[in-house]
Amino acid sequence: MRHRSLRTARHRVIGGLAAALLGTAGLTLPAAAQPAAARPAPSEQTARAAETTLSGDGLALTPPMGFNNWNSTHCRAEFNEAMVKGIADLFVSKGLKDAGYTYVNLDDCWALPQRDANGKLVADSARFPNGIKAVADYIHSKGLKIGIYTSAGTKTCNTAGFPGALGHERSDAQQFADWGIDYLKYDNCNNQGVDAKQRYRTMRDALKAASETTGRPIVYSICEWGQNKPWEWAADVGQLWRTTGDISDSWGSMLSIAKENLPLAPYAGPGHWNDPDMLEVGNGGMTDTEYRSHFSLWSVMAAPLLIGTDLRKADASTYQILGNRDVIAVDQDPLGKQGTVLSSEGGRWVISKELADGGRAVALFNETDQPQRIATTAARLGLPPADGYRLRDLWQHQDHNTAGSVAATVPAHGTVLYRVSADKRWASYPPAAELRLGASPFTEAGTTAPVETALGNLGGTPAHQVRVRLTGPDGWRVRTTSPTQAATLPTGSRLATRWQVTAPQDATPGAYELTLRADYRSARGGEVSTGLPIPVHVVVAPPTGATYASDLPWLNAVNGWGPVEKDTSVGENAAGDGHPLTLDGTAHAKGLGVHAPSEVTYYTGGHCTAFTAKVGVDDEEGTAGTVAFEVWADGAKVLSTGTLTNADPAKTVTAAVDGATTVRLVTTDGGDDITSDHGDWADAAFTC
Ligand code: GLA
Repeated sequence: MRHRSLRTARHRVIGGLAAALLGTAGLTLPAAAQPAAARPAPSEQTARAAETTLSGDGLALTPPMGFNNWNSTHCRAEFNEAMVKGIADLFVSKGLKDAGYTYVNLDDCWALPQRDANGKLVADSARFPNGIKAVADYIHSKGLKIGIYTSAGTKTCNTAGFPGALGHERSDAQQFADWGIDYLKYDNCNNQGVDAKQRYRTMRDALKAASETTGRPIVYSICEWGQNKPWEWAADVGQLWRTTGDISDSWGSMLSIAKENLPLAPYAGPGHWNDPDMLEVGNGGMTDTEYRSHFSLWSVMAAPLLIGTDLRKADASTYQILGNRDVIAVDQDPLGKQGTVLSSEGGRWVISKELADGGRAVALFNETDQPQRIATTAARLGLPPADGYRLRDLWQHQDHNTAGSVAATVPAHGTVLYRVSADKRWASYPPAAELRLGASPFTEAGTTAPVETALGNLGGTPAHQVRVRLTGPDGWRVRTTSPTQAATLPTGSRLATRWQVTAPQDATPGAYELTLRADYRSARGGEVSTGLPIPVHVVVAPPTGATYASDLPWLNAVNGWGPVEKDTSVGENAAGDGHPLTLDGTAHAKGLGVHAPSEVTYYTGGHCTAFTAKVGVDDEEGTAGTVAFEVWADGAKVLSTGTLTNADPAKTVTAAVDGATTVRLVTTDGGDDITSDHGDWADAAFTC
């Protein structure tokens, strides 16, 4: 199904980047020890554990893990017996079964559209020539479990109209149990307006009765997309409930779903989980950095981990992400708490998950498309006061010690995931160090730009033989006039370095990646090496005179829905699918088509004086859509239209941008949601 809320946005904030990353000047980091927030007393913990065992029937005491074909195949013919068996084989041979993945689940399209003369469901013989029981037997023979799908309606969601279970609950549940099914995903399509609680409870009771006849319990996955707030009533109905519309394989979809699911933390617990939908890791629509964020977020949210890619075609990095046992252990932690948001200012998220051993998993998640420093402390995480803590990086698989700071510069769209715990042996781990970056620099080809970095010692022990290096791609020159080495870096101090970076004469405009590396030793001689990618933009000064924005390269563009378009309106999906920019019945040949919330940033290099445009909601949205337009010159808002609707005439705007290094064209949704928010920057031009 398509859900409106999927149309929410990629927000981004880069204001004050330099300050946020490098912090205030000076050599000393803030001391870490602060009073600890309350942690539950042991008696409370015991009470909670007792509650846990009473809740439900002992099913899904940790979030279900497994596979479901939907995100990879939808209804296509490649969803068949060979695929399902192949996945089961790979679960075993690739160590995923050992890592906890158990359920191999069939989604929609496994059945024939018609029931048989006895009202029984019939497997599609082209896909499953040996029937479902044979597949179940195969999966069971591997020590795995099998799941199946139907809808709490007269038909499933696919337009081919496969049979749903509404009115057939007893018989269908019995058929599933007879086949040896261990898990049912129960969808919401074609529900005939029958009350959701009633529909989902009827199937719960049918599954219970059927599983009693076979002795094989069935995990019950409620899939009504959060429409009836199942978190408020379904804890004793199913073991998990979808909280959102369908995920798709894009950063925007994954992000908006995470944002809908995060506030529901209080409702999750052993045997009753929030389900923000299945994983997209490996399907190709996101970068590996984004997939690591997806997997990290799902784990701190104690979400079900259902692999949604065809593992028969998966590459090494997909296996590395899905098989990360440190991250899986966060998801599967027996305390069963969903992580909560401690802060999210400026797209810098700190999400903390309390763990059974008293420690915390903490995700430092960077929603923005620039590196961001994200920081918290052991005290804010609720850990008891101590001189030091163990800090395990769950993607690097390395242990360090921290005196209390938990901080990292996180690459764009990335997540640093730590496990922080009180540990008497904390000082036996090398000190944690934090690499910091002044601001992502701009440079024109052949010219030199300054880069400021710092290495801070977060540990409770000193770092020795400290050395930092900055390297660029071929042809880049890097020099420094300040120290790159320190014999010792005590707790809380930092080594700050200023670099001069020169782009090659023939560098084409675009983003380049330099690498900052730091090496040091712990007191016991253990060697530590850490790195941070540093984006540098090679830019061109805009030409003298008036130039259309759509004829200039932008530094970056973020859009609420689909890509920003040059010289057309936004088409919402692929690049180039827009229409002529049209305001008040007049088409404009030049300009930018955006979907709020959006940001398009240009390099003006101090050469430009004014930005002009005609702005409004594109006529193609009829009477819908509300968009507010803003122009930012570096950190200052120099123009703001307030909210415009289609009833307003297009507005001619002029903004003074004298001396600005960058100019950002921003739209917001006007305070309501982003539906239909097609904004036009018609005739947008810079005067330089
Ligand atoms: C709905 C569900 C999806 C998938 C499809 C199958 O959209 O939310 O997860 O099961 O149906 O048709």
